[in-house]
Amino acid sequence: MTDIAKITLGDTTVENPVLKGTVGPDVVDIRKFYAQTGAFTYDPGFTSTASCESQITYIDGDEGVLLHRGYAIGDLAEHSSFMETCYLLLNGELPTGDELGKFTHTITRHTMVHEQLSTFFRGFRRDAHPMALMCGIVGALSAFYHDSTEIHDPHQRMIASHRLIAKMPTIAAMAYKYSVGQPFVYPRNDLSYTGNFLRMTFGVPAEEYEIVPAVERALDRIFILHADHEQNASTSTVRLAGSSGANPFACIAAGIACLWGPAHGGANEAALNMLREIGRPERIPEYLARAKDKDDPFRLMGFGHRVYKNYDPRATVMQKTVREVFDALKVNDPVFEVALQLEEMALNDPYFIEKKLFPNVDFYSGVILSAIGFPTTMFTVLFALARTVGWVAQWNEMISDPAQKIGRPRQLYTGPAHRPFVPVDQR
Ligand code: SDX
Repeated sequence: MTDIAKITLGDTTVENPVLKGTVGPDVVDIRKFYAQTGAFTYDPGFTSTASCESQITYIDGDEGVLLHRGYAIGDLAEHSSFMETCYLLLNGELPTGDELGKFTHTITRHTMVHEQLSTFFRGFRRDAHPMALMCGIVGALSAFYHDSTEIHDPHQRMIASHRLIAKMPTIAAMAYKYSVGQPFVYPRNDLSYTGNFLRMTFGVPAEEYEIVPAVERALDRIFILHADHEQNASTSTVRLAGSSGANPFACIAAGIACLWGPAHGGANEAALNMLREIGRPERIPEYLARAKDKDDPFRLMGFGHRVYKNYDPRATVMQKTVREVFDALKVNDPVFEVALQLEEMALNDPYFIEKKLFPNVDFYSGVILSAIGFPTTMFTVLFALARTVGWVAQWNEMISDPAQKIGRPRQLYTGPAHRPFVPVDQR
């Protein structure tokens, strides 16, 4: 028996089915609402709108729960690897040992990029933000891989997905190398996905790069924590771009562009810059006051979330990982102490308690990435690297849905009603 939602508009009452998921809020199916009533629903920030049906990621913001295909993010971070999580997100099940081996082999052998792609970097200034390079270079991939742009061919979709997952680390490392004036380092097939990325980023031709296992493990875990996150802004951008039939490389480039915003993936760079600007614990009250001042646009970066009104489970794992990396690299950066004390003071402040503002995934990630040696401008690049698997998994899910339509929202129009044209000599 399907529940029905009755909505009365003026003297019209319409009935719409209520759809139930496995877990989480029900949804009112309003696809016929405009035809029934001649009115639109209105939800500019999509605060109460489900844009699609999905089986990939579930978030309970009140309980601080994040599941990927039913598996808790804490379990995946502790027991899984990024390659295994990629397989899970793409295919819906954890792989057997044999399946994981084959998948890893496939991804490894797609890590090299077309040699001509390296000339694209030359067009950018050396001091360009690496996210600008990522937007441009990833979008240009469609000019090189025509044999995987037929989006209605599942085989081509999977090749494009593997190519994107595999080549993002190579392109990200190239963007870093270009910014520091060092030669590009080619991928190697005998290294792990994350170890390969570390070597391509920090290795130099003059000597062998030594991968620190604790760092490789920590970064692999950070990639897991960033892999997917339901219908966030950049994933919704990828879905909307994909709904027009755009090729996967263009869709992922659109997602990268959206992720760059400081309210979204750009927050990890902004959060570390904020922590460094605060500098020492005694300056924290000044910044908390600014964050609470309605007349001050300053916000506590790495805090708050549209969905989480409890602790972001990824931040919990991230904070634990800081200590592991600091111990492994014998780092003692005072910025971690500032972050810990800032969190403590904010979580005990009535403003943050009342508005249910907690640390999110971006609050601690920059502290770790900085300790490993990444410049802050690379933080969002790493977020995009890891989120690519989520974007392509959600894109595949959308494209393979036969009922999928182009996304085309409407509006509440408050501009001028029709008026006659006035010639310039009469204005
Ligand atoms: C990510 O969607 C996802 O899943 C994203 C993500 C993912 O994995 O894809 O989780 C990754 O983007 C994490 C969020 C990273 N961004 C930041 O850390 C930037 C700082 N945070 C905010 O700008 C804000 O919290 C957002 C953008 C994250 C969420 O904004 P919402 O849901 O639109 O909430 P809001 O702006 O309406 O804020 C509600 C209230 C407001 O006060 P009032 O107008 O009610 O008086 O809380 C206040 C805000 O002023 N507020 C903050 C705050 N965040 C919200 N006040 C101070 N500092 C903050 N960080």
